[in-house]
Amino acid sequence: MTIRIGVIGTGRAGLIHARAFQGHIPAARLTAICDPGPEALSAARSRLGGVAGFADYRELLAADVDAVVIATPTKYHRQIAVDAAAAGKHVLCEKPMAISEDECRDMIEAAERAAVKLQIGFMRRFDAGHVHAKRLVEDGAIGEVVAVKSLTHGPSVPHPWMYDLKASNGPLAEVSSHDIDAIRWLSGSEVVDLQAFAGNYRCPDARAEFPDFYDTVMVNARFANGALGHVDGAHGVRYGYDNRVEIHGTHGRIDIGDVSADRVVVHEETGRSSRDIVASWRDLYREAYIAEDRAFAQAIAEGTPVRVSGEDGLAAVRIVCAGNASIASGAIQRLTPPQ
Ligand SMILES: NC(=O)c1ccc[n+]([C@@H]2O[C@H](COP(=O)([O-])OP(=O)(O)OC[C@H]3O[C@@H](n4cnc5c(N)ncnc54)[C@H](O)[C@@H]3O)[C@@H](O)[C@H]2O)c1
Repeated sequence: MTIRIGVIGTGRAGLIHARAFQGHIPAARLTAICDPGPEALSAARSRLGGVAGFADYRELLAADVDAVVIATPTKYHRQIAVDAAAAGKHVLCEKPMAISEDECRDMIEAAERAAVKLQIGFMRRFDAGHVHAKRLVEDGAIGEVVAVKSLTHGPSVPHPWMYDLKASNGPLAEVSSHDIDAIRWLSGSEVVDLQAFAGNYRCPDARAEFPDFYDTVMVNARFANGALGHVDGAHGVRYGYDNRVEIHGTHGRIDIGDVSADRVVVHEETGRSSRDIVASWRDLYREAYIAEDRAFAQAIAEGTPVRVSGEDGLAAVRIVCAGNASIASGAIQRLTPPQ
């Protein structure tokens, strides 16, 4: 059986999934796309060829699809996921899963009720470097994990829709939730205490109307197993896309990632050396998105659990909300780990 995929939202993330399902995953086939923006929809249709196109996701849910990818702005994830599950469609929902823990629970319950898969789009869990590091940790290569630090710096300034923290949960949700998921996954534990600091250094446009908006954030955390965590997020750094992780253990350290795009270094007669920097997350994670989508199709075809669950999405949203509360109050936040 070929799994028929509908992609809801054809912006940056939606197009990545649409292309992956169109050309790279034999078990699945892109059959429909949806976007209420006429320009986005028609541009996507002309890029993707003869797939059905809809302006309203409810029309797509009534069409020939077995599963959907939700790649709309985060505030729409809950409603679309709940409606998709009720229509019997499996769901791959982009991160962040939703705006609040309650929304995440609605999505998990809807998927359970309908007995459909719900996978969350933390594609770093499918990145070769992250997967290798996780295996090394599990094999005891560095002893017990002492601390996990994950950093993501992006070249561009955030979309203005991120300025309103109440509507979007801000950069901690939109970008750092990848790092939040990574430190949970690699430490194998849940955050119990955290404190976050943030500031707006590079987005002057946001200052007057959204004084609480930040483009740079740092979170310190303690896990239930005693290990420590650190998340470092920055937007508008200009120099390139930079994701690096350090996993410190009792018997060594594992590093993931390098800001360099390749191994070539140019040494010039001027005495300067230079190398190219990773330009975009699209380049760095090209293979990881395909692996993520392939794993989703495989979980559906084989009836096996997804590798990134609704509970993982919910845990990240809980940490994002606690982080934003800490930024606002300056206080350490205590989290109750899920039972
Ligand atoms: N996993 C990743 O690395 C990654 C990367 C980028 C974005 N994302 C996530 O993907 C989601 C979308 O982000 P983006 O950067 O692609 O945004 P975007 O603004 O580029 O695209 C969003 C698209 O959704 C459409 N849309 C809005 N409301 C809709 C609705 N009700 N139904 C269908 N389509 C609708 C918009 O018209 C737009 O074309 C966000 O949750 C974001 O956090 C994840």
